[in-house]
Amino acid sequence: NWTMVNIAEESIEAVRERVGGKRAICALSGGVDSAVAAALVQQAIGDQLTCVFVDHGLLRKGEAEQVEKDFVAVTGVNLHVVDAQDRFLAALDGVTDPEEKRKIIGREFIRVFEEAAREVVEGRSGGASSQNDAQGAPEPVEFLVQGTLYPDVVESGGGTGAANIKSHHNVGGLPDDLQFKLVEPLRTLFKDEVRALGEQLGLPGEIVWRQPFPGPGLGIRIIGAVTRERLDILRDADAIAREELTRAGLDREIWQFPVVLLADVRSVGVQGDGRTYGHPIVLRPVTSEDAMTADWARLPYDVLQRISTRITNEVREINRVTVDITSKPPGTIEWE
Ligand code: XMP
Repeated sequence: NWTMVNIAEESIEAVRERVGGKRAICALSGGVDSAVAAALVQQAIGDQLTCVFVDHGLLRKGEAEQVEKDFVAVTGVNLHVVDAQDRFLAALDGVTDPEEKRKIIGREFIRVFEEAAREVVEGRSGGASSQNDAQGAPEPVEFLVQGTLYPDVVESGGGTGAANIKSHHNVGGLPDDLQFKLVEPLRTLFKDEVRALGEQLGLPGEIVWRQPFPGPGLGIRIIGAVTRERLDILRDADAIAREELTRAGLDREIWQFPVVLLADVRSVGVQGDGRTYGHPIVLRPVTSEDAMTADWARLPYDVLQRISTRITNEVREINRVTVDITSKPPGTIEWE
């Protein structure tokens, strides 16, 4: 697409001019915005960019690998991965209140990112080829790349100010000694343009077309306390639901498709020779324009049937599949 080629080239040139010979850091979330922003900046400044990916263990099946393998393979980006799964689980231990979960996840995210950023800044990680000049002194990391889109700019009143980790993690800024200048190459673009740009940059379809996904991830799709076992159950069920939606060719029409584990509810079932005492899950497919309002999606019965059969066959702990038919309002898209 000719326009996208121009937008890409102009943005790359603008980033190159702004960053010059300095280094930049970027937090990858697994979502399309940060991925496209990082890929673009990578094309502009190459190894001067280091990306940080905090694996909090709350992503869906395959999403961490998409970042760690596919994204890196396509972009050649310097990636610093932090496996923080144990840390997030420990911090969430026994917590059931949704807002409390959000606060904890946001707080831990910023702490882990801070530590990782410090390692990158101090040259203990990433940017191997660029951090040592002839004198052996690392170039300073001056810039933070963020995937801010035009609607985010409008929503927040248009200011750029000090570095904020995108507010979807519901957290404030970084400490004073980690203040960066912002690079926001997507600031003038809408979501559909960002996706087109992602395709232009050759990013994998799974990333470019990913539906919106909340920062706190599966942590707010387990109704009840978050445990490793519950996350694994939910990940399996969610993967099946997404797979069948994609197979039916509906994944771009459906705005979001949360799968929610009612972890503290038990339901009686009969599977094979015996009665089971498992958990119900809720399918929550919705259509929407902007997440402000939403309608429950009328998925074809045969698609729902396949999802239900597969989940109850393949995920031992789940013996009941339900569909949420509430619009927003009054129901929110997520259950927590
Ligand atoms: P609700 O559930 O309020 O969600 O209808 C509206 C949109 O926001 C997403 N969402 C979140 N995104 N952090 C996020 O980054 C959050 O804590 C959060 N809670 C909800 C939700 O997935 C939907 O797209």
